[in-house]
Amino acid sequence: MIVLAFRDVEIALGGRTVLEGVNLAIGQGEFIGLLGGNGAGKTTLLRAALGLIPPRRGAIEVLGKAASRGNPAIGYMPQSRAVPANLRLSGHDFVAGVVDGARWGLPLLGSEGRREVDRVLELVAASALAHRPLAELSGGERQRLLLAQVLVGSPKLLLLDEPLMSLDPSHQAGVVELVASLQRSLGLTVLFSAHELNPLLGVMNRVLFVGNRQAALGTVDEVITEPVLSRLYGTRIEVVRLGGRIFVMAGAQDMARDTHGCGDHGHAHGQEHSHEHSHGDHAADA
Ligand SMILES: Nc1ncnc2c1ncn2[C@@H]1O[C@H](COP(=O)(O)OP(=O)(O)OP(=O)(O)O)[C@@H](O)[C@H]1O
Ligand SMILES: [Mg+2]
Repeated sequence: MIVLAFRDVEIALGGRTVLEGVNLAIGQGEFIGLLGGNGAGKTTLLRAALGLIPPRRGAIEVLGKAASRGNPAIGYMPQSRAVPANLRLSGHDFVAGVVDGARWGLPLLGSEGRREVDRVLELVAASALAHRPLAELSGGERQRLLLAQVLVGSPKLLLLDEPLMSLDPSHQAGVVELVASLQRSLGLTVLFSAHELNPLLGVMNRVLFVGNRQAALGTVDEVITEPVLSRLYGTRIEVVRLGGRIFVMAGAQDMARDTHGCGDHGHAHGQEHSHEHSHGDHAADA
């Protein structure tokens, strides 16, 4: 079964073509790593699948139907995530907020709503921390609660926009493992966007790489190659494999690392990631 299909899709934003000639078909249960430099179009592609950006040309289908807003089959974690204003809010109430509001439309949580909150908290192994205020939780723990929110209503397709942003490597690994185990146990289809390939190497079935207005979908061995990436970055790329890790280099520059700042630490690359920053900041321009 095809969960997400793009057929000859062209997308323009503010009069600029961001993606063109995009064709892809993603099957049920696949874990897809969505990769590409700043401004390559990862967020745009996810928002188009949500029906938030109508394509200028071509067709986008989710579970066989034209992409449209408010599809309950999709769970979406946006890139610029709303940090709850009130950090004294408990994780439980944070998750209950979406059960209460957007998806279920119930003014008060009935027993069904409460069961749903308990169910998703258990899925992300957050039952024990759900009664503590958000202020007390680590970035990784809050990320688990965000994931619980996304699972409300049992979506079939998860669109996760940079869930690893501003997490340290050990927390990154925890989030990746959690998403992968949910994907396997619930048969979910996952599109997981990231700047770095390596944290996803062990779990993704295929990679969807965007750049230069194009997209390439295939296995790591098919896509993470010098010809494909040179085309997508618009510059000569070298792929270096070292100790089970893969480095995508343009000359001496590591494309993943250098577009993201050194490591991630001490870089103002937080939750807020404005389009102003990404505009014209395409890795290929660097
Ligand atoms: N509303 C908009 N109007 C005009 N251009 C936009 C708009 N939103 C995004 N863009 C442009 O579209 C391109 C793709 O942006 P997008 O946010 O999809 O990239 P991305 O791959 O998610 O980047 P990042 O890694 O920085 O999150 C960028 O050049 C961006 O500046
Ligand atoms: Mg983005």
